[in-house]
Amino acid sequence: CGIVGYIGSQPAAPLLVEGLQRLEYRGYDSAGLAVLGRTGTTVVRTVGRVRGLEAALPKRLAGKVGIGHTRWATHGPAAERNAHPHRSEDGRISVVHNGIIDNATALRAQLTSAGVELASDTDTEVLAHLVARSGADTLEGAVLEALDRITGTYALAVVDERHPDRIVVARNGSPLIIGVGDGEMFLASDVAALVRHTTSVVHLDDGELATITATGFGTFTADGEDTGRTPVEIAVAAEDLELTGHEHYMRKEMLEQPDSAEAVIRGRLDERFGTARLDGLNLAPRELRGFRRVKILGCGSAYYVGQLGAQLLEELARVPADAEAASEFRYRNPVIEPDTLYVVVSQSGETADTAFAVQEVKRKGGQVVALVNVVGSTIAREVDGGIYLHAGPEIAVASTKALTNMAMAFAMLALLIGRVHDLSVADGKRIIDGLKAIPAQIREILGQEGEIAELAREIAGSQSAFYIGRVRGFPVAREGAQKLKEVSYIHAEAYQTSELKHAPLALIDESMPTVAIIPDDDLTDRNVAAAEQVLARKGPLVAITHPGVDLSHLGIRSIVVPRSEPELDPILLTIPTQLIAYHAALALGHDIDKPRNLAKSVTVE
Ligand code: G6P
Repeated sequence: CGIVGYIGSQPAAPLLVEGLQRLEYRGYDSAGLAVLGRTGTTVVRTVGRVRGLEAALPKRLAGKVGIGHTRWATHGPAAERNAHPHRSEDGRISVVHNGIIDNATALRAQLTSAGVELASDTDTEVLAHLVARSGADTLEGAVLEALDRITGTYALAVVDERHPDRIVVARNGSPLIIGVGDGEMFLASDVAALVRHTTSVVHLDDGELATITATGFGTFTADGEDTGRTPVEIAVAAEDLELTGHEHYMRKEMLEQPDSAEAVIRGRLDERFGTARLDGLNLAPRELRGFRRVKILGCGSAYYVGQLGAQLLEELARVPADAEAASEFRYRNPVIEPDTLYVVVSQSGETADTAFAVQEVKRKGGQVVALVNVVGSTIAREVDGGIYLHAGPEIAVASTKALTNMAMAFAMLALLIGRVHDLSVADGKRIIDGLKAIPAQIREILGQEGEIAELAREIAGSQSAFYIGRVRGFPVAREGAQKLKEVSYIHAEAYQTSELKHAPLALIDESMPTVAIIPDDDLTDRNVAAAEQVLARKGPLVAITHPGVDLSHLGIRSIVVPRSEPELDPILLTIPTQLIAYHAALALGHDIDKPRNLAKSVTVE
C-alpha cells in the first residue's frame, strides 16, 4: 500500500493524486484521499487505479491539507467501503494506514457494542473511531490514546477538522517519510512520491510519531519525548522514476541492466588482490574468516536469487551456504548460530517478512547483513552492514535489474569470503574479469529481444509451462518460472532437469512447452538427453544455452547467451527468461507493470 500527505499553500488534491500515481506500484486495488477545506473534509474513494480516483474528484477541491492512499487489499475485498481514508462516524477524523492491526477483530466488536456503526471490513477503520472517541485535547494526544489500544504494524496519517493546521503521523513496522519543503510539507510511505518536490527528508523510526504543519514538523515518541530529527538529503533523480518513452517500466528496467550491473561493481573490485571491497559490510577479514556457514533469507524472486547466491558462496568460498524463504524462517524457531553469517536480500528493503527475519536473527544474537537496493530503507537501517545494489529505482512489480545486481553482489560477497579462505588470487582475478564482462554481455543478450519475443509469443498460447535446469541452472529455472507466472499468469513450474523423469514427464505433451537451461558444463550431455525425452513426448522445447553446445539434431530453437565464468553463468542465463515473461505478457495484453493481486513490496505479513 502507499500513503501520501500534503500540507501547505497549494491545493492538496492534485499533489496527492500525483503522489499516489508514483506509489501505485505498491498496491492498486483501490485509492482514496481526504482533503480538509473550509467547509469540512471531502473524502473520495474509488476501486481500481488512481486515474479512476482522479476522474472522480469534484471540480472544486481547494483544501490545502490532505492525505491519500493506494491499497493492496488485506482485510476485506477491494471495494469502495474498504478503501482508505477511513472516517469517524461524524466525519471529523480521517485516517490512512499501511500495515495490519492484529487486535482489530476484538476492537471492532468493542466498538460495535459501544454503539458505533462500522462502515467497512477493515482493520484501519477502528483507528478513526478510537481517535474520534478519545477525550484528549490535542490530535497528538488522541492518536497516542488510540495507538495505546492497538497492537500490530502501522504507518498512519490522521487529519482532524478540529485541528486543520496539522497532520499527525505514526510509524511502527511500516515505512513513513516526511518531505520538507519551503512553506509546505509532504508525507509519503516511499520517497518515489516525494522526489519531484523535495530531496530533504526525514525517515521516521519505529515507535516514532510526528506532527506536520505547513511550516515545520516535530518528532516524538509515545512517551512524549522529543526525538529532534533533522532532515537528510536523498539522491534520487526524478527522471529515474519516469518511463522516458518506454511502454513499460519492466522493459525500461530490463534494458537498463548493462548500466545498472556496471554500477553495482563500480569501485568494488580489487584487481591487485583478486578480491572485492565491500566496506559497507562492516566486517573485518578476521570476522569474515570466522563464519563457518552462510544463511540467506529473502522472499519471492529475492529468495530465488538467494539460492543462486548460496551456490556462488559454496563454489567460490567453500563455505556451506543455503537460502530459505524469509517468510517461513522465524516461524520455525530457527537455531541462530554464532558462527553463521545471515544475509538478507531485498530490493525494497521494506518487505515485512524479510524485516521480521532480520529481527529474529538479531533477537537471538546473530550477525546479519543485507543486500538492499533502496538506500535508507527499513532493512538497510536495521542491519549491521550490507551491500547496496545501486540498481536505481525499480518500479515494475516484476523485478529484473535489482535481481541481476543481487546476483552480482552475491558474487562479490563470495569473492571476498573466498579470498579470506582458500580461493587463489588467480581464481579471484578470473571472477573479477568475469564480472567486468557481464554488463556488455547483458547488452548482447538484450540485442536478441526480437527472436526471444517470437518464442515468448508461442509460449503465450499455452496454459502451462515447465522450466528445467540443473545445479547452477536450477535457480535460473525457478526464477524464470516465477517471472512467467507473475506477469503472464501462465502456470509455470520449475524442476531440476534430473527430476523430470520422476513424475513431471507425465504432463508433457504437445500443449506443454518446456524452457530448458542447457549451459556448456559437465552436465550438458545429461541436459541434452533430458531435452530429447521431452521431445520424444512431443513437448515443445526452447533451450537457453551457450555457444558450442550442439543442439542441431534436436530441431529446436535456442537462445544462445554468451559464456561467462562457469560460476557466473546463471546471471546471464536468467536474462532471456525476463524477456520471455515480458513478451508473453505483452502478447496476452496484460498490465505488465502492475500484475493482478500483487504489489511491489509487501509491507504486511
Ligand atoms: C513481492 C513482489 C516480488 C518480490 C518480493 C520481494 O512479493 O511481488 O516480486 O520478489 O516481494 O521483494 P523485495 O523488495 O524484498 O526484494
